[in-house]
Amino acid sequence: MDMAIIGKMIEDIKSLPIKCALAAISGGVDSTTAAVLVRRAIGNRLKAVFIDTGFMRFNEPAHVKDILNDILPIDIINASDRFYHEMLGLGDAEKKRIRFREVFYAVLSEIARYYGCDWLVQGTIAPDWIETRGGIKTQHNVLEQIGIDTASKYGFKLLEPLRELYKDQVRELARTLNVPNEIVNRQPFPGPGLSIRAVGELTLEKLDVVREATRIVEEGLEGMGLSQWFAAAWEYEFTSDEGLSRAINGLGDLQTYLFRVRATGVKGDSRSYGNVVLVKGHLVRWDLAYELHRYLAAAYDITHVIYELVNRGSGKYFVSIRAVVTDDFMTADVARIPRDTLMDIAREILNNDDRVVAVGYDVTPKPPATIEYE
Ligand code: XMP
Repeated sequence: MDMAIIGKMIEDIKSLPIKCALAAISGGVDSTTAAVLVRRAIGNRLKAVFIDTGFMRFNEPAHVKDILNDILPIDIINASDRFYHEMLGLGDAEKKRIRFREVFYAVLSEIARYYGCDWLVQGTIAPDWIETRGGIKTQHNVLEQIGIDTASKYGFKLLEPLRELYKDQVRELARTLNVPNEIVNRQPFPGPGLSIRAVGELTLEKLDVVREATRIVEEGLEGMGLSQWFAAAWEYEFTSDEGLSRAINGLGDLQTYLFRVRATGVKGDSRSYGNVVLVKGHLVRWDLAYELHRYLAAAYDITHVIYELVNRGSGKYFVSIRAVVTDDFMTADVARIPRDTLMDIAREILNNDDRVVAVGYDVTPKPPATIEYE
């Protein structure tokens, strides 16, 4: 990115009446780049914190602090008990997101008061507020755009230096500011974190299952050029259905089951819940797995089609492996991963955790699915 443009961004920040600015770092490229930029402008008057919500991935807070050590000093604030107290037991994704946002900003405003900060730095980028305004989802970090006056509600003003930028521009800016590559190339991770990947009722056990599976999936598919790859978990429970199997006659010796949970897909311009179908059985060729959604998605209001890779016959949870390739995250293709690679990962998940009954690969593009499940 042109140094003159960055210089202007820094000058603009310098001209604001900032006593102290607080930045909550998630380890993603947006929040980190925003904080590094503001630090260039106001130095130590920027306080960077990492709020451990309890919905982070394995060892994430310490790891992020470590990688940023040279460029941005960070304090880790453990608020997981508070998030668990407020959020365990919730089932609906939008309720999870809204409650998450309330607790997140309550914690932030206390920290801001503690440090005497009058500004909050956020890594909001253009698609965040565009999607929230469009009603596609409740983005946890979009406040002013939906009419929340942060100065009176939380006691700080908002500084969002990246709000007009798109992701590729943020990455370019990050590189120019010497943000470490691991952060620049990090796959996106939703603000409410694993709380929306423990699909359905939120419990500590389900969170633990999804955290373990995520660690294995992230390691197993690292370096394959994917845009986003992760695990989600929910109960291995089905509702009965007759006739669904007839839709996929001819692809092999397959059976289909409807999960009890529902998951989000895209309909027109908005997000909506639909059925999640599990396909089991022998496929005549592996690449046909990637065609299954064509036979099933239109029927039965199905948003996600998942092909079962392994099943041990006992346990409580199903783990879905999700891996997509996309330029803009508005649409996405399923990553065409070799069956053997997926089987190795699936077996590792089973061997690692006897609470998991079965593991499958989500073979639905966006649309009709979303990338996440909630
Ligand atoms: P979907 O599921 O809508 O996801 O296809 C598109 C991209 O957005 C990310 N995502 C979120 N990011 N807070 C975030 O910061 C959220 O609540 C949220 N929900 C989805 C998702 O991971 C994907 O990259």
